[in-house]
Amino acid sequence: MPYENLASKYRPNNLNEVLGQETVKRTLNNAVKLGRIAPSYVFYGPRGCGKTTIARILAKTLNCHKPSGGVPCDKCASCVEIAESKSLDVIEIDAASNTQVDKVRNVIIENVAFAPSRDKYKIYILDEVHMLTTQAFNALLKTVEEPPPHVVFIMATTEQHKVPVTILSRSQCFRFRPLSEELIFERLKEVAEKEKIKYEPEAFKIMAKASIGSMRDAVTLLDRAFSFGRGEVKTELVNELLGHAGEDLINSLALALINRDSATLHAAFDRLNAEGYDTLTALRDLRDLLAGTFFYLQKFSSVPTSLAGSLPKDFSASALAKLSRKVNLAVEEVKFSDSLAIAAEMALFTLIDTPQDLEALVRRLEGLELRLASPNGEPGRFTEPAPQKKNDISGERPERGPAALGPVPADAVRGTLEKALPAAPAHQEAAVGGAQPPSAVWKKLLARIADRKPIIYNMLLSVKITFDTETRWRLGSPNKFEVGMLQDFKKELEAEMEKISGGKIELIIERSAASAAPAAAFEDLSVQGDVAAPVEEVEAQSGQRGAEGHWEDLPEAASSSVDPELKKLLKVFHGSKVTKVVKKTGENKDRG
Ligand SMILES: Nc1ncnc2c1ncn2[C@@H]1O[C@H](COP(=O)(O)OP(=O)(O)OP(=O)(O)O)[C@@H](O)[C@H]1O
Ligand SMILES: [Mg+2]
Ligand SMILES: [Zn+2]
Repeated sequence: MPYENLASKYRPNNLNEVLGQETVKRTLNNAVKLGRIAPSYVFYGPRGCGKTTIARILAKTLNCHKPSGGVPCDKCASCVEIAESKSLDVIEIDAASNTQVDKVRNVIIENVAFAPSRDKYKIYILDEVHMLTTQAFNALLKTVEEPPPHVVFIMATTEQHKVPVTILSRSQCFRFRPLSEELIFERLKEVAEKEKIKYEPEAFKIMAKASIGSMRDAVTLLDRAFSFGRGEVKTELVNELLGHAGEDLINSLALALINRDSATLHAAFDRLNAEGYDTLTALRDLRDLLAGTFFYLQKFSSVPTSLAGSLPKDFSASALAKLSRKVNLAVEEVKFSDSLAIAAEMALFTLIDTPQDLEALVRRLEGLELRLASPNGEPGRFTEPAPQKKNDISGERPERGPAALGPVPADAVRGTLEKALPAAPAHQEAAVGGAQPPSAVWKKLLARIADRKPIIYNMLLSVKITFDTETRWRLGSPNKFEVGMLQDFKKELEAEMEKISGGKIELIIERSAASAAPAAAFEDLSVQGDVAAPVEEVEAQSGQRGAEGHWEDLPEAASSSVDPELKKLLKVFHGSKVTKVVKKTGENKDRG
């Protein structure tokens, strides 16, 4: 006996055997029982979910010589012939290969007038009907509008929107749904047991997921896995067949993103490439893993993921959702790239470089602010050491010897921040455009921009801010390109700031001289007389300047371990305070 593929062998014979599609089955069953047969049906929905199968079952049911309770007998001549696509009264036309108007006219229009040769109905199953030309549709429409009583059209399509409304409106339309992973998983087990195929359940789970709702794809995959695996379907083999990177690798990609660990990220990509896994599939798996973990942490799903157990404890669920969304955007961005692997890796590197858990960052910052504002420092408040980057690619924090790699005690970090950023009297900050101090306006602006315009956000983190007046701020950048981008975005920034502060703030965006001082300093009006030297400069010189100031006792590793992002923000929000630290000989010229 010739080998019959599993998908055909396990094509359901009657509606009871069809999985899912409950509404379709119920409605058709009732119609058959009541004898209310429509002259034209349109079955639409995704691939491999039962459209052709149900079309044939309906044809059998209508033409069966001995149906019982609406179920075809599968024994009579009509049933047997339909199952073998040999019935003279059930004509299957694959529109994908009959797109010419003449053929449709010949096959349908000219034959339709003749009575069925033996059975009750003359049934036309038009598969992939969306492939018909306009002329073919027009020819078909005439018959659908006034069909002879013995004729039934069953059209199937994956692209309902390509079927003219004139046809749809004259037909009974049924939407087919993609089959759930659970149903597909159950079906795979059932087929495997009937075929005596050994399998690892995990392998079937992966297959069910990869089939994205198509039972045909799942069963066909089982066929392939069975022949490749010499009788046994194993997880590893299925991953290989699908070009999937496997859970470990995807997990390490996810953790690399979360921990902003560029070395691990690169190593993971090396492995992906070396083993020839499909990059796009890996990105999609990564997106799904992040989303699945989010659902699990939110208790929307009871399926734990391997990632859920290895998340850093301060990483919020919402940050996972955002990350998943960003990975999805990366998929969209790179999928047409002519150099997919590089584009994908670069996209993920950029994710490492942009803030992920902005809320957490702001929370930490607020805690720090509170602490800084209190006169005695309340050291207990800020106990969380900033996460250590293994390999920072942002270039803003050069590694300085082995000490920089080790974990830093919270106290050391605290000490550093305390010394670098002593509390400034609250009244020092002038209120801008209303009741809010500039740093508050700026902070809210950053928070709003971060998600919407990550590029602008990153630029804002590094601009130099000077106040002409309370309502006129200068943003300076040495980079021509940045200045241009910011200028384009100026109106929006101003509008946003007005919303936040309640008053107009004019922004002047200009090219500033490139200086050794790399980052933004809040040169507040009240401290303009002070020497502005941002934290990084201070750190870089701490060795030589020991005699002069109070930095010599700051452990280098500790200062370099502060999360650069936090540091950037601190500089932006507390620049005025920093400037005063630097000018260790001069007293604060507090004019407030
Ligand atoms: N609902 C279902 N229940 C059980 N098996 C199904 C179901 N849907 C599809 N299958 C399996 O998939 C095979 C293909 O199904 P079918 O030809 O009906 O898909 P289709 O929806 O017409 O897809 P396409 O749009 O690609 O033509 C069947 O032979 C059967 O093995
Ligand atoms: Mg089909
Ligand atoms: Zn029959």
